[in-house]
Amino acid sequence: MIIISHVVALSNNNVIGVDNDLPWNLKTDLNHFKEYTTNKIIVMGRKTYESIGRPLPNRINYIVSNTIKDLDGASIFKSTEDALESAKEICNMNENYDEIVIIGGGYLFRDTLSITNKLVLTNVDCDIEGDVFYPEINLNEWKEIKSENFKKDLDNDYDFVVRIYERA
Ligand SMILES: NC(=O)c1ccc[n+]([C@@H]2O[C@H](COP(=O)([O-])OP(=O)(O)OC[C@H]3O[C@@H](n4cnc5c(N)ncnc54)[C@H](OP(=O)(O)O)[C@@H]3O)[C@@H](O)[C@H]2O)c1
Repeated sequence: MIIISHVVALSNNNVIGVDNDLPWNLKTDLNHFKEYTTNKIIVMGRKTYESIGRPLPNRINYIVSNTIKDLDGASIFKSTEDALESAKEICNMNENYDEIVIIGGGYLFRDTLSITNKLVLTNVDCDIEGDVFYPEINLNEWKEIKSENFKKDLDNDYDFVVRIYERA
């Protein structure tokens, strides 16, 4: 089975971004993101790509955009559906790939929530102002399979919990 997942860090009030950037510094969570996504196919919206600033190494980078034409180190798709279709073909043809990770932002998460079968949520313990939000999820539809707590420290602005869910 091909896994289609969301990897996202969200505040208690579902904020994921502000001014095309992340609203916090959470170094430990960025390390978790890198570890989780390495050697997988990552799919992102154009603004998320711009906020990262470069294709991420050791991952297949897919960007959904109608304004970027082409780019070294990433493939560009005009719709989320086109990106997912191509990513599924890679998974079907290459046994090293079995997971398509949607990494944001708000548009991509909204577009794909109904077809994801795994959520990797970093619940950041803050209420914060922002301009991009993660959609409301109904936790009755999901089963938590793992959770790990992290404390605020010099590298991390807030306490946070990484929770992994599969569809119930
Ligand atoms: N906290 C987290 O885990 C996390 C993760 C990722 C991003 N973020 C934050 O989220 C913000 C960016 O998210 P965003 O919602 O503003 O933008 P986004 O989803 O990253 O990108 C939006 C752009 O992607 C393209 N796009 C998206 N859906 C499309 C569709 N169905 N068909 C065609 N093109 C589509 C369009 O690009 P064109 O205009 O080029 O056509 C659109 O303008 C930033 O603040 C970022 O830091 C946070």
